[in-house]
Amino acid sequence: MSSQYPSLKPFNTLGINVVARDITTAKTIADLCDAWQTCQQKNMPFILLGGGSNVLFLEDYHGMVVINRLMGIQVEEKDDAWHLHVGAGENWHHLVEYTLAQGFSGLENLALIPGCVGSAPIQNIGAYGVELKDVCEYVDIVDLQHGQIKRLLADACQFGYRDSLFKHAYRDGYAITAVGIKLAKTWHPVMTYGELTKLNSATVTPGQIFDGVCHMRRSKLPDPEITGNVGSFFKNPVVDAIEASEILHHYPDVPHYPQTNGAVKLAAGWLIDQCHLKGYRIGGAAVHRQQALVIINENNATSQDIVALAHEIRQRVGSKFNVLLEPEVRFIGAMGEKDATEVIS
Ligand code: FAD
Ligand code: EPU
Repeated sequence: MSSQYPSLKPFNTLGINVVARDITTAKTIADLCDAWQTCQQKNMPFILLGGGSNVLFLEDYHGMVVINRLMGIQVEEKDDAWHLHVGAGENWHHLVEYTLAQGFSGLENLALIPGCVGSAPIQNIGAYGVELKDVCEYVDIVDLQHGQIKRLLADACQFGYRDSLFKHAYRDGYAITAVGIKLAKTWHPVMTYGELTKLNSATVTPGQIFDGVCHMRRSKLPDPEITGNVGSFFKNPVVDAIEASEILHHYPDVPHYPQTNGAVKLAAGWLIDQCHLKGYRIGGAAVHRQQALVIINENNATSQDIVALAHEIRQRVGSKFNVLLEPEVRFIGAMGEKDATEVIS
């Protein structure tokens, strides 16, 4: 596509310089539905973006990119909890800061995750022992074709590790418009991770956890404002009990997290690190030196550079550990989403 089209570079945190046929902002549900209808009429693809911090545009996008800016935070106080109704276009980290400033605890472990509130349920964002599902009360979606709003209670969202119904049955033709969050007045600090374990459980405050999380994140994750990235490029692989015991037999040091069903989650960053890939480059893309699970746009990387590097990482980890990594990031082709695992296989 020619350069007369608008660049997507400011709208994806990897900083991939491709263009879209059109980029528009939606401030209301009606804007979203209108944009969808226009795309239907013109027979062109439609994609909604929040902060663009979990997407890889593989090539120029032949459709309309809609930037979600449905704003607003409403708070209702009940005896045992604060109930928040948050517009999908609100910035996630600003929400965390806002709640702490109001004296509401519960979101402190999820500080500094880029992107919008409306994207948080999609992969059930998680960090430092807490996931969105732990605080989510409901998710509101709109059927873009008919304009009907539907409320899904958290139990219906099928939240899993980096997964939910919004990646499956409600992936196409729907948009998340708001998220309901319940923050209990009785606070249970989660201090199971890294430097948080050193805090004193008798005196700890939500602010201390927030500061600890921000400190840990800044020490290993690159700031997308400075260095393009999408956080963890791959998911941590979950292997069955037999595979896990095989790997643990050969590599007893592998960080691993037993799951409820006997399966075991392995630390992908450790597996990549053991392949001595930190700092490894293809074109302008590189494996981050402080955290091997992060691919960075070091020097005007193209999406081909990123895909080639992800392919190489998957091959090397597969050969050494017999574990095949799968991307966490969503891959977007000219006409819509592509199967990311297939693209890098
Ligand atoms: P986008 O990239 O804009 O969109 C992601 C996908 O959701 C796209 O397919 C898009 O079409 C779809 N989508 C977006 N909004 C909507 C909507 N309203 N309705 C329907 N579909 C929609 N993630 C974690 O879980 N934990 C972390 O600790 C974490 N750390 C990160 C650190 C860094 C430095 C970076 C860059 C990323 C990190 N991430 C992390 C990943 C990312 O921040 C999250 O996945 C975030 O929720 C993505 O939000 P976004 O608004 O940027 O989504
Ligand atoms: N490790 C290494 N070398 C590395 C990277 C990690 O040895 O280069 C080891 C660490 O020492 C640690 C283990 O691997 O023992 C896990 O690493 P880390 O604590 O950094 O967490 P992670 O599993 O790599 C996950 C999430 C992050 C989330 C953090 C904190 C996934 C895919 N990633 O990373 O989420 O912030 O835990 O909870 O689950 C994201 O999804 O984008 C993301 C950043």
